[in-house]
Amino acid sequence: MTKIISFEGFEYSGKSTQIDLLKKYFKKNKIKSEFTREPGGIKDLEKIREVIVNSSFSNKSLILFFFASRFELISKIELLNQNKLYVFDRYFDSTYAYQGKNAEDKKIIKNLISLIDKKSIPKITFYLDINKNSLFERKKSRSFQNKFDQIYLNQYERIKKNYNELTKLKIGNRKFIKINANRDPDIIHQEVIFHIKKCKLI
Ligand code: TMP
Repeated sequence: MTKIISFEGFEYSGKSTQIDLLKKYFKKNKIKSEFTREPGGIKDLEKIREVIVNSSFSNKSLILFFFASRFELISKIELLNQNKLYVFDRYFDSTYAYQGKNAEDKKIIKNLISLIDKKSIPKITFYLDINKNSLFERKKSRSFQNKFDQIYLNQYERIKKNYNELTKLKIGNRKFIKINANRDPDIIHQEVIFHIKKCKLI
């Protein structure tokens, strides 16, 4: 059965570094795994990614675009039906955190999440929680990857509040683990491995 682990957090939270460290760890330990990202992840959806993350679509349209892309990605993964560990760079929590602008939009997002088949709900979601000062400090030395990164950086408080709401939301049996991302990447990596082992995913 496919098992999913997802990573969440702001751009510059160290999410990509953790995913890279995990990839190296799985390779070294010969653990069969696939890494994907959202939006995108497969050839056709990568084309759509460029359109979405540089768009001026309304918030409701964005919710639907992100979920359309998501359902397509997971249908492909379900078709493969391999006994593999999948690591997602962002998943439905991102839509809740970023597009969850008001109660009505959050309700729509929760309803869409409820349409995801139980087997495609992650076993663990790691949320890399970074404080505002560290985030802006890290940002200084890097350029924006896309239009969204720039827009959403200025909505730090709202997005952080939404991620915190997700820590209390029960979605299947998945574990939502908040990680202090203001620390050394190697220490965070050890913590990630600890939880993956504790949940018997490897
Ligand atoms: P990434 O650079 O981490 O791959 O994410 C691309 C951008 O898309 C990032 O600014 C977060 C945003 N995003 C949303 O707003 N909603 C979503 O559902 C997803 C998956 C990403």
